Amino acid sequence: MEHKKLAKFPENFLWGSASAAYQVEGAWNEDGKGVSVWDTYVRIPGKTFKGTDGNVAVDHYHRYKEDVALMKAQGLKAYRFSIAWTRIFPNGRGEINQKGLQFYIDLVDELLAAGIEPLVTLYHWDIPQALQDEYGGWESRQVIADFVNYAEVIFNAFNGKVKRWVSLNEQNIFTAHGWLLAIHPPGKIDEKLFYQVNHHANLANAAVINKFHELGIEGGIGPSFAYTPQYSIDSDPKNVLAAENAEEMLSHFWMDVYMYGEYPIAALNYLKEKGVAPEFAEGDAELLKSAKPDHLGINYYQSATNAFNPVDGVGFAEMNTTGKKGTSGESGAPGLYKRVQNPYVDRTNWDWEIDPEGLRIAIRRITSRYRTPILITENGLGEYDKVEDGQIHDDYRIKYLASHVKAIQEAITDGATVLGYCTWSYTDLLSWLNGYQKRYGFVYVDQDENQNGSQKRIPKDSYYWYKKVIETNGEEI
Ligand code: BG6
Repeated sequence: MEHKKLAKFPENFLWGSASAAYQVEGAWNEDGKGVSVWDTYVRIPGKTFKGTDGNVAVDHYHRYKEDVALMKAQGLKAYRFSIAWTRIFPNGRGEINQKGLQFYIDLVDELLAAGIEPLVTLYHWDIPQALQDEYGGWESRQVIADFVNYAEVIFNAFNGKVKRWVSLNEQNIFTAHGWLLAIHPPGKIDEKLFYQVNHHANLANAAVINKFHELGIEGGIGPSFAYTPQYSIDSDPKNVLAAENAEEMLSHFWMDVYMYGEYPIAALNYLKEKGVAPEFAEGDAELLKSAKPDHLGINYYQSATNAFNPVDGVGFAEMNTTGKKGTSGESGAPGLYKRVQNPYVDRTNWDWEIDPEGLRIAIRRITSRYRTPILITENGLGEYDKVEDGQIHDDYRIKYLASHVKAIQEAITDGATVLGYCTWSYTDLLSWLNGYQKRYGFVYVDQDENQNGSQKRIPKDSYYWYKKVIETNGEEI
């Protein structure tokens, strides 16, 4: 649809930016914090780029006041961050670690005093190692009760102060990377277990949403899904079907459960046929159906293009974690789809396709299938940045972000409800598998790929660009 004139962004639109505890905080063993699965995983040789870890990360734990001051000067309206479960309950449950909780109380108060709305993610991948050791973490249904117990403490601590909540961040990524591809903790390859783990995460997500509503917490809650809209390479029906398969298995498989409380028919049928479908216990179906998210969080980075993949076709391939363009291999799911290069879009140095139109398509698809308010909880460009005379001229990032902001405006003009836009990320931070050389922030952090540097903060050109966007409520992008 071509519009003669684009709608204005709503008055209370949340112009935000985001981070996650493990990627920014550091202080990995301070003030009573317990060990998370990521603290353990990064210590296994060969798992992350150049062995980088989040021990110090970008030292946000000690520098949060400086970071919030930068946000305030920029005029940021919202800041999305996650709480580390291991700061609250070092062993996953039991006695509350007051010092750990206090860090977040201070951070939230600092944000509120600066006029910035805190958006809190309950879980961004860092489950306590103690629970992993005790019962396999997400592999056991026991995790549901522990997660709800942890969440309840957080809800009560911040009721009235935090209005928008994210339950689970990118369940599709942490489960697939952890149990299907063995590139995140606990590093397993077990398809049946993967679907079961994912089912437990669905149940935990539903239970936490219900708890939030039962407690009458002010505001709204929903999961953040990593949505990659799937395209077909051309109009050959075989390729179109491959794209449908990908959308069903990679998108509806999660979002239908969040929004309808049911797995999509073709996907579940396929898993049953393969003997890997999740086992339902009594009450599971009802629990999934009962939870109603108030919004759906979307993390959008790229689209994906598909072609037919026979049963003996390609499977998972190495990902490009080095930043050498063109080094990612061809990958797919045999018998379902194969990911191919889209000739119409460019790619980053990490081979992520740059497709702003894809964000409009994503919002449109979600709006028409689920009719829910959408919160863009992540979107951004991971690239190399260079300091020149004390400045960072990241015009490539501005171009990326501006085109995505425009896509949101177009989607709003199409009739979608979008509550806000959080860029990824506020400061530079640890990119899980790609280390510190892949930068996303508005604020540069002086730390090289070998984790050497002063941690000094320098606002990039994109910082000032976003300041203007916020000031004009998106009139000037
Ligand atoms: C999302 C995550 O997958 O994308 C973030 O929620 C992550 O935590 C971001 O950092 C970018 O991915 P990457 O692999 O480039 O760090």
